[in-house]
Amino acid sequence: MASSGPRYSLVAITLHWVIAALLFTNLYLGLTMHGEHGMAKFSAMQLHKSFGFTILGLALLRLTWRLAHRPPSFPETMKGWEKSAAHVVHWGFYFIILVMPLAGWIMVSASPTNIPTLLYKTLPMPHIGFIHALPMDARKTTEDLAGLAHFLLAWLVMLLIVLHLGAVLKHQFWDKDGVLYRMSPFRRPSTSA
Ligand code: HEM
Ligand code: HEM
Repeated sequence: MASSGPRYSLVAITLHWVIAALLFTNLYLGLTMHGEHGMAKFSAMQLHKSFGFTILGLALLRLTWRLAHRPPSFPETMKGWEKSAAHVVHWGFYFIILVMPLAGWIMVSASPTNIPTLLYKTLPMPHIGFIHALPMDARKTTEDLAGLAHFLLAWLVMLLIVLHLGAVLKHQFWDKDGVLYRMSPFRRPSTSA
C-alpha cells in the first residue's frame, strides 16, 4: 500500500501555499511595475506593498508555528548532503520572507518622494518613524541601500525557488518518494489495486 508517510500539519500547508502564491505575485508585480506609468504604476505599487506586508505578517505567524512544531523528518532515503541542502534552502526562504518586506518598508520610509502606503486601499501603514526623521541625504543613502538589498534578495529568492522546485521534481519523478504529498493538501494516491 502506498502511504504519504509523515505530513506537514494543515496550518503549515496552508501558510506554505498562501505565502508562495503571494510571493510569486509580488515578484511578478515588482518586476513588471517599472514599465507602468501614472495611476497604473501607483496602483501596482500599492498592491505590491499590500501583498508584501501580508507576507511579512504571515511569515511571522509561520515562523512562530515552525519553531513551536517539529516538522516531519526527512525520508530515510535522503542523503546527508540532500538534507543539509534542503535546510539551507528552507531557512533561506524564512529569512527572505521576513527581510525582504522589511527592506521594502525601509525603502519607502526613507524615500524623499514620501509616498504614503494604503494597504488594500483601506488601511494606512505608517513609515518607520526614525528612518523618516533622518536628514535628507541620509534618507537618500538609506533608500539606495535598502533598494539594493531588496533587489538582490529578489534574485536570491528566484534562485532558491529554482533549487526548491528542482528538488521537488527530482523527488517526485526520479526518487518517487512522495515528498510532494508531505506539503500537499491532497494525500498521495494509492498505487495498490
Ligand atoms: C516578500 C515580499 C516582496 C517581494 C517578493 C518583492 C519583490 C520586488 C521585486 C522583484 C521588485 C523589482 C526589483 C527591484 O526593483 O528591486 C520590487 C521592487 C520594489 N518593491 Fe518589493 N517586494 C516585496 C515586498 C515589498 C514591500 C513590503 C515594500 C514596501 C513596503 C516593497 C517596495 C518596493 C519598491 C518601492 C520597489 C521599487 C524599487 C525601485 O523602483 O527601485 N516591496 N519588489
Ligand atoms: C511551485 C512551488 C513550490 C512547490 C511545488 C513546493 C513544495 C514543497 C514541498 C513538497 C515541501 C516539503 C519538503 C519536505 O517534505 O521536506 C516544501 C517545503 C518548504 N517550502 Fe515549498 N514549494 C514551492 C514553493 C515555495 C516557495 C515560493 C517558498 C517560499 C517561501 C517555499 C518555502 C518552503 C519552506 C520554507 C519549506 C520547509 C518547511 C519547513 O520544514 O519548515 N516553497 N515545499
